[in-house]
Amino acid sequence: MVYAAFRSIGAYAPKKILSNEELSTMVDTTDEWITKRTGIKERRIAADNEYTSDLGIYAAELAIERSGLNKDEIDMIVCATISPDYFCMPSTATIISTKLGLKNITAFDISAACTGFVYILSIAKAFIESGMKKNVLIIGAEKLSSITDYSDRGTCILFGDGAGAAVISATDNKDEAIIDVHTGADGAYADLLMTPNGGSGSAHDSLDQEAANCFMQMKGNETFKVAVRTLTKDVVEILNENNINSESIKHFIPHQANYRIIKAVGDALKLREDQVVLTVEKYGNTSGASIPMAINDIYEQGRLKKGELMLLDAFGGGLTWGSALVPFSPLK
Ligand code: ACO
Repeated sequence: MVYAAFRSIGAYAPKKILSNEELSTMVDTTDEWITKRTGIKERRIAADNEYTSDLGIYAAELAIERSGLNKDEIDMIVCATISPDYFCMPSTATIISTKLGLKNITAFDISAACTGFVYILSIAKAFIESGMKKNVLIIGAEKLSSITDYSDRGTCILFGDGAGAAVISATDNKDEAIIDVHTGADGAYADLLMTPNGGSGSAHDSLDQEAANCFMQMKGNETFKVAVRTLTKDVVEILNENNINSESIKHFIPHQANYRIIKAVGDALKLREDQVVLTVEKYGNTSGASIPMAINDIYEQGRLKKGELMLLDAFGGGLTWGSALVPFSPLK
């Protein structure tokens, strides 16, 4: 039997910091309001000439180096993004594969918003367990600043840019294996979070190219309630189905959307503070990049050790959701 092991992690945060103070000169908001409602103090913003693929490549190179593999051993790249370099094509994954110098490998993007990393983890697991691939590079990369409306205080305070990557490899050692990944979606809630313009849904005759934008729009309060409900339900299910007690979770790594959402889910699961990983204060919501950036944070702080169990939990536009039980299984 072939299993999939989570071998390594890497991440990249752009240099430029956009603080709450600076945002309050751009829209009618305050540091106090943002901190109290979201827990966010600052977020990173990519440079104009820094594309999503550039963020992804930094994270990918680090993840490959830490995996102990030669980059030529990577046989598939999957990128989760809602802010690709180019609308439609080419995919960001193919651009990253070329920048990595990899030819003739499988490379594609998926769109599952903030749940993107859990979705690509499930894809990597399935390809490896079926025997089709051996070493899959998964990347969550977002330049959300490129689709954020900086005149809308309801959304622009939340989002930031960044990338995280992981190498998932085949193993015959069941103790190293990713235990389970759950994914789900419900398009009935599509209008809670969307970029309404620019796709085939925009009528051509009314499409003013100048005015057409692909900015995100969100019904924040309704999204908040569905997020707490869905995130809690999903982790309870995956823990129960795998007979795992929340005490066994060393690191609960939720999508970093809002401190209040994370706190509500952590409390519902009766998790201690030291089990819950938080990066929302310094990166804001980086969508598909937020979970791998958070994993990288605890890795670089020396808090993530071989064999420790991570519980991932995500929620995002679509609506989509997902959770995963993942032991950290580095080769070295
Ligand atoms: N500064 C000051 N006031 C604000 C701001 C702001 N930045 N934004 C909204 N307000 C005001 C509103 O206008 C409203 O004023 P009113 O009462 O006079 O009408 C008041 O604050 C309350 O607004 P709410 O929207 O009810 O505020 P809420 O407490 O819900 O917080 C927030 C808003 C932070 C957006 C929250 O709803 C949230 O985090 N939602 C979930 C976001 C999320 O998880 N998204 C999913 C993933 S994202 C993805 O997939 C890409």
